[in-house]
Amino acid sequence: LSRQQFGGNWTEEKLQSLRKYLGAYMTVMKKQPFQTFYIDAFAGTGYRKPRSAKEEVLIKQLVDEDSEEFRKGSATIALEISPSFDKYIFVESDPKNFAELAKLKNVHSRLADRITLHKKDAAVVIKELCSLDWIKLKWRGVIFLDPFGMNVSWQTIEAIAKTHALDLWLLFPLGVGVNRMITKDGKIQEAWREKLNILFGTNEWQQEFYKPKEPGQLKLFNNNPVRQLEKAITLEGIALYFNERLKTIFPGVADNPLMLTNSKNNPIYLLCFAVGNPAGKGPALRIAQHILRRK
Ligand SMILES: C[S@@+](CC[C@H](N)C(=O)[O-])C[C@H]1O[C@@H](n2cnc3c(N)ncnc32)[C@H](O)[C@@H]1O
Repeated sequence: LSRQQFGGNWTEEKLQSLRKYLGAYMTVMKKQPFQTFYIDAFAGTGYRKPRSAKEEVLIKQLVDEDSEEFRKGSATIALEISPSFDKYIFVESDPKNFAELAKLKNVHSRLADRITLHKKDAAVVIKELCSLDWIKLKWRGVIFLDPFGMNVSWQTIEAIAKTHALDLWLLFPLGVGVNRMITKDGKIQEAWREKLNILFGTNEWQQEFYKPKEPGQLKLFNNNPVRQLEKAITLEGIALYFNERLKTIFPGVADNPLMLTNSKNNPIYLLCFAVGNPAGKGPALRIAQHILRRK
């Protein structure tokens, strides 16, 4: 497990990792007989939203190329990769964001006929796309899942793995979601429990994350000990558990997912990478693990 360097901006780390991988991917793929796809299932607007008025002012002060660079979101970054992908699929369910996103066709008019836009739920579009026979079609690609919080289900991740053709970059909601839901005493609201089941694709996390309290600490009820649980997992443990889950369905998974932290150094997301095609496993993993490495 790597940890983002303290002081680094996590959005920047996320987008830089993606940019580096897409560049390396297309350099390798240009020599191969495949149609290449970039799928951005939570595409946003194509540009980063300033998080505060203060950040907006800061951006305006940077009146050089860097300010433009700083504003780019994942979709824009993907469109700038050279050589270009054969197809770009952008999904965004929010109508306002979608309207912004759609403008990318004008900004990148040279690639307009390669871009497909969907104003839909990411899960629906991914399910449809992944039901096609990617191997037979000689399609390969990279899919980026950058949701807010707990918006991805294991079913969606499984559908991606089943194509055997898509490399996955995923923001797993480690600190923003999971760690907060895993309460210390194991009393978890039913709705949260269900969300965790949907995210992990199993309810076995409960046995992994909790252990029974020591007998000495137990409360008694009618002189009988009441079965009580306590949290027995660290953030690193949750990250490892999820990474191991990915290994059950993908031929290769980066062993050093990157913990992205906020300005107070609290982990928020875990940036994970999984390879889709068994034949491409070696080089893809080497590149991704190199990108994810932090000193
Ligand atoms: C974290 S932002 C994406 C940022 C983007 N990757 C970038 O770098 O600029 C997540 C986006 O997903 C969209 N979204 C949320 N739920 C969605 C869903 N179920 N299907 C598609 N898009 C969704 C949100 O409207 C939001 O724009």
